[in-house]
Amino acid sequence: MVRSTAAMAAGLMMLSHQSIAQDTDSSSSNAIVVDGTTFSLNGASMSYVFHANTTTGDLVTDHYGGSISGGIPSPREPAVNGWVGMPGRIRREFPDQGRGDFRIPAVRIRQTAGYTVSDLQYQSHEVIEGKPGLPGLPATFGESGDVSTLVVHLYDNYSSVAADLSYSVFPEFDAVVRSVNVTNQGEGNITVEALASLSVDFPLEELDLISLRGDWAREANRERRRVEYGVQGFGSNTGYSSHLHNPFLALVHPSTTESQGKAWGFNLIYTGSFSAQVKKGSQGPGETLTSPEAVSIYSNTGIGGMSRKFHRLYRKHLIKSKFATSDRPPLLNSWEGVYFDFNRSTIKTLAEQSAALGISLFVMDDGWFGDKYPRNSDNAGLGDWTANPAKFPNGLEPVVEDITNITVNNTSSDKNLRFGIWVEPEMVNPNSSLYRSHPDWALHAGPYPRTERRNQLVLNLALTEVQDFIIDFMTNLLNSADISYIKWDNNRGMHEQPSPSNNHLYMLGLYRVFDTLTTRFPDVLWEGCASGGGRFDPGVLQYFPQIWTSDNTDGVDRVGIQFGTSLAYPPSAMGAHLSAVPNHQTGRTVPLEFRAHVAMMGGSFGLELDPGTIQDEPAVPELIALAEKVNPLVLNGDLYRLRLPEDSQWPAALFVAEDGSQAVLFYFQLAPNVNHAAPWVRLQGLEPEARYAVDGEGTYSGATLMNLGLQYTFATEYGSKVVFLERQ
Ligand code: GLA
Repeated sequence: MVRSTAAMAAGLMMLSHQSIAQDTDSSSSNAIVVDGTTFSLNGASMSYVFHANTTTGDLVTDHYGGSISGGIPSPREPAVNGWVGMPGRIRREFPDQGRGDFRIPAVRIRQTAGYTVSDLQYQSHEVIEGKPGLPGLPATFGESGDVSTLVVHLYDNYSSVAADLSYSVFPEFDAVVRSVNVTNQGEGNITVEALASLSVDFPLEELDLISLRGDWAREANRERRRVEYGVQGFGSNTGYSSHLHNPFLALVHPSTTESQGKAWGFNLIYTGSFSAQVKKGSQGPGETLTSPEAVSIYSNTGIGGMSRKFHRLYRKHLIKSKFATSDRPPLLNSWEGVYFDFNRSTIKTLAEQSAALGISLFVMDDGWFGDKYPRNSDNAGLGDWTANPAKFPNGLEPVVEDITNITVNNTSSDKNLRFGIWVEPEMVNPNSSLYRSHPDWALHAGPYPRTERRNQLVLNLALTEVQDFIIDFMTNLLNSADISYIKWDNNRGMHEQPSPSNNHLYMLGLYRVFDTLTTRFPDVLWEGCASGGGRFDPGVLQYFPQIWTSDNTDGVDRVGIQFGTSLAYPPSAMGAHLSAVPNHQTGRTVPLEFRAHVAMMGGSFGLELDPGTIQDEPAVPELIALAEKVNPLVLNGDLYRLRLPEDSQWPAALFVAEDGSQAVLFYFQLAPNVNHAAPWVRLQGLEPEARYAVDGEGTYSGATLMNLGLQYTFATEYGSKVVFLERQ
């Protein structure tokens, strides 16, 4: 039996190297070229080369970076009069423990007898056109022609443990996606104590580590630091990917910028706890455990180029929803407008006011459910997913009917308002009928007290009966009325776990629930949420095309949060709302236009306020119409972060259509500037020879727009502009 007692890890190591040079011949596909036991994985501008050492059976990395071809020069031993050739100096693909390699192991297995030595040697390999699925786990997907897969089979003769390393290459995106299977083919029990989805070994050179750090309501701060000697890293032990550290990191040269230089980006397709580690070295029985996938992207066009490849890969080969790049209605979410305080008649009024402004999806957030333990505050009701009879005496169906009978006041459509609803299915309040009948379903560790957060406990999704309960009540809810959208929230971390491996079993259970429901209800627009961006990860994106980016709706803070999130994740995936002022989180007052313009940079644009307070604002319907006009470019376009909010008071972003025919510029001023010439903003990603009509200004060549740029000034604090460009 194999038990996972450690979190899945994306381990990254760097050391000096030694390898064997071999000539490579092209075989059937260029994406994967195999010559003997040398493997070359090739993208449009990337090569990843490694080989199996035929003497030791070890896999040895030769190169990961820009494209190379032909033979590889032999690396030299360090010139010393002493000992060389230690395993720790070889660039190993899959470092293990106990045979002289002192790196952080990519795999650590405790054998039946207790020792943790492994000797996984190359046995064979196979090349598969396309990409097999990953049982039970979210994964990138693609057809033959999009992606090719190399599986390298390793075997430990002493323990009868097998490991399969799977490398899938998406050449168009310079992406290599890795996962590992460990199978116990022996008699006794083994414990897989650590298993890295990906480990990469770079030759000794100066590198910076970029990661996304934060907390509740201040997610996705970009951190950049030098990789120092010794181990450095981050992770989550909260049971979910978390606000604290995103499962993303990039390694870049110190000279790499947004638009220039080399960058290697890594992202784990997983929603649970994780670990990412970087180390700078002195020289530089029958059961299978499958690791999550890790994506690595190589870019020679800076950090921005890396992000755009992630975005395109995720839009086309990760997000399964039919709404991945289309049909995101402008919505109104009730949370900040009315919190828990509503009933059938007030909800109807809010919906009518929303439709009058041009909103096409009305979302009833938290507070609609619970009969015996009504959800009038966050103290009760989670787990009891029936409408609160005091608020909705005839149940949910007539409320949904009220709303879906309202016509939207929108010149681009005369459709009826759609209805969406909030749920938090993984949770239970002790004040609930569910908890009274199934106290054992809440995560707990034997007799230890069950510590609460926000007055709630976590249901143990490792249990099949809990998964089935959620699948059943969600199916009934979605069948009970015309519901077009679900916001799936998750508002606390996991505390008392019955065993260390429960964390991963929970995730497998969660993915089963997500997969079943999104397959059963493909026409529903699903949005993920975890107190804002606590689960903004590729695991969730496999099933839900959009995620609520942060509970912080302050326009200025949101510029930074959304720019940070875009390091790995496509803008199409971000939920972004225009909320009231003073802002409920920061107390700041920012102009309506600015707040709306920031929210339009998210794929799911919405309002989150009492629509009654803005009925007389003529700008609101215009801004909603503008958001709809911008939306296709945000959903499908390539994002260029022209200036970052951490570097400048004038951050700017450009979305360019994939076919280059259109673009839209977002330009902001974050502080007042008296008698100061604002810097010109140089555009990127245009065709130098082409001419572009710039909305309200004139027609200029791409070269002029990219080398000279455009200039805007504002007489006030918090200025903003949205400018369309059309290629002539
Ligand atoms: C979380 C979400 C919010 C809102 C509340 C409701 O904080 O992030 O958007 O839905 O829960 O309780």
